[in-house]
Amino acid sequence: MSERRILIVDDSAVFRTSMKKILASMNAEIILAQDGQEGLDVALQEKFDIVVSDIDMPKINGIELCRSLKQTPSTQGIPVVMVSTFDSDSDVDKGFQAGASAYLSKYEIQDRLLETVESVLSKSKFKRNRLVMVVDDSKVVLQIVEKGLAEAGFRVITAENGKKALDLMKTIQPDLVLSDIEMPDINGFEFCQAVHTNPDLSSIPIVAMSSVTDRGYMKRMMQHGASAYLCKPFNIDELVILVEKMLSDQFHMLLMERERLDSERNLMIASITSLITALEARDNYTRGHSEAVGRIVSGMLSITGGSPKEIETVTIGGRLHDIGKIGVRDEILLKPGRLTEEEFAHIKKHPVIGANIIKSIPSFSDVIPIVLSHHERLDGKGYPQGLKGDNIHLWARMAAVADTYHSLTSDRPYRKGMVQGKALQIIEDVSGTQLCPDCVGLFFKWIAQKEA
Ligand SMILES: [Fe+2]
Repeated sequence: MSERRILIVDDSAVFRTSMKKILASMNAEIILAQDGQEGLDVALQEKFDIVVSDIDMPKINGIELCRSLKQTPSTQGIPVVMVSTFDSDSDVDKGFQAGASAYLSKYEIQDRLLETVESVLSKSKFKRNRLVMVVDDSKVVLQIVEKGLAEAGFRVITAENGKKALDLMKTIQPDLVLSDIEMPDINGFEFCQAVHTNPDLSSIPIVAMSSVTDRGYMKRMMQHGASAYLCKPFNIDELVILVEKMLSDQFHMLLMERERLDSERNLMIASITSLITALEARDNYTRGHSEAVGRIVSGMLSITGGSPKEIETVTIGGRLHDIGKIGVRDEILLKPGRLTEEEFAHIKKHPVIGANIIKSIPSFSDVIPIVLSHHERLDGKGYPQGLKGDNIHLWARMAAVADTYHSLTSDRPYRKGMVQGKALQIIEDVSGTQLCPDCVGLFFKWIAQKEA
């Protein structure tokens, strides 16, 4: 079943069909209407997530259609994207004044319609999921504001005074608070201050509502932490616009923060890849090993239905599992013969060295168990901690199987790589003692899938 419903309104059959084609990849049900009147009738009868409308149409034009949708409580929250061949500034202005969320010239639809509709939908979903708390000792104000915001698509909770609001906020964290100032028990100033001095709540914006229009009074409220001030009496449209504006600013901030974190993570991955390349450049025999372990573990996790985020994490973890070998001396790392006990003790430090390197990168904290525990054994005879069974992180147990398989099948200074059949036999033999049987089973499934 389609998750979303899109209404396309255009009197040109060619544009209707071509827009439908462009949006076909969205897994949405797309309904077509051939003029503004038909579009309005359909939008009033059925539920839509977004309306894409032409401007110049017979009966009702796109601007009037948009205005009617925005003035009707049941359709007020549906975002509208305007498309037109007339893209003079005044057309664009008229569209936005009528409440449109975006404007596209028909010459741009091939390149930008899909991206614009996706972006408007994601903003509107963000808005629709937002929770607004209204705090006022007047039941009438609470009712009016609650109804107005709910009709505009927000989720709303109410509290009759500051004390009750603070109690509610111990368990529910709203995205925005609208608060009266003159209230019994805790007044608006005290409420605002209590929210802004609590580290768990301090990022929630507060809009103060009051009939006192004195500038000093407003200033004082802002000093206590309010982000905006709304003078009573106000009309609901004014309030909805302010709430939308504040939440959309918050959305942009979150979006920018996410982009910043993503680019920081990508930079980190690039630096780590360089480190791996540097590590493997020391030793021809391990070249490609880290990459292969990452690929095998991610393949195994995909079979279990791991989320894209988890799969990305185990891929990075697999690639980084031996990063601690950077701290192992060349004469030991590259020694062609058997290692002495002392040399082996030195090489056994690499999981801890690796975990310490990774610890300094907060966004990689999830991969630490793989780096630290990929040499643990199910029977507790592994290193560095001698963990047993389920006490070893599942991803580390998976990485251990991948690591063992790839090491066995790769050439080493002291032996040639084994043929696959022999390596698989060894893995089966150590399943239950060295390696986790569930992970071995998963690995065999991965091999079978790969070969199929
Ligand atoms: Fe290792």
